[in-house]
Amino acid sequence: MNSIVCNVSIDRGVSAGDFRQAMRRLTGGVSVITAGIGWDISGMTVTSVSSLSVDPPALIVSINREASSWPLMRRYGFFGVNILTSDQIDIADRFTGKGGLKGTERFGGAHWTTRVSGVPLLTDALAAIDCEVEDMVERHSHAIVIGRVLDVAVSTRTAALAYWQGQYVAIDRDEDALKLADVSLPASRSTRRT
Ligand SMILES: Cc1cc2nc3c(=O)[nH]c(=O)nc-3n(C[C@H](O)[C@H](O)[C@H](O)COP(=O)(O)O)c2cc1C
Repeated sequence: MNSIVCNVSIDRGVSAGDFRQAMRRLTGGVSVITAGIGWDISGMTVTSVSSLSVDPPALIVSINREASSWPLMRRYGFFGVNILTSDQIDIADRFTGKGGLKGTERFGGAHWTTRVSGVPLLTDALAAIDCEVEDMVERHSHAIVIGRVLDVAVSTRTAALAYWQGQYVAIDRDEDALKLADVSLPASRSTRRT
């Protein structure tokens, strides 16, 4: 069989603004990454957490190399992923550095614990995942960090926090499942709230 060589021309003319506008349309689950041990800690709000593999349990997150959490992840080799519930917008705000909060100051107003690695984990997160850094791929302004999961703690809460079009959005499994049933099923079959 003849092989076919394709010349792919990549359009490098896409502006950062256009790309940002496209990515604003991608809904992301909101998590707080925590890094460091003891008082040498920081953390940051992210939407870039994604599952990598289930066996072995591993995930990825994209971290700006200017962020204060980055040197802590490199130094200690561990990090936490705290998946937020819909009523934890204040925590999300603190971990963007809003109001000039830095390092340990960001951890105020919430309860934290440690598990295997020693990084702070949010006690009432939707899920708190303790990770060891398996690999870091530095590319452009960011690094893709691969985390091997050491331990997980999951909550029975059903309301998650998402970010879409520059705003926080609450997703409640029970409430929103009812709304979806209302619009997607014929009236006679839909589940209606009383
Ligand atoms: C909703 C939301 C999602 C974010 N996602 C990411 C992300 O995935 N990766 C990242 O590097 N920064 C992300 N950021 C920005 C960081 O939260 C912010 O730059 C960081 O907290 C600043 O940390 P520093 O003050 O410790 O340097 C996000 C911010 C917001 C508001």
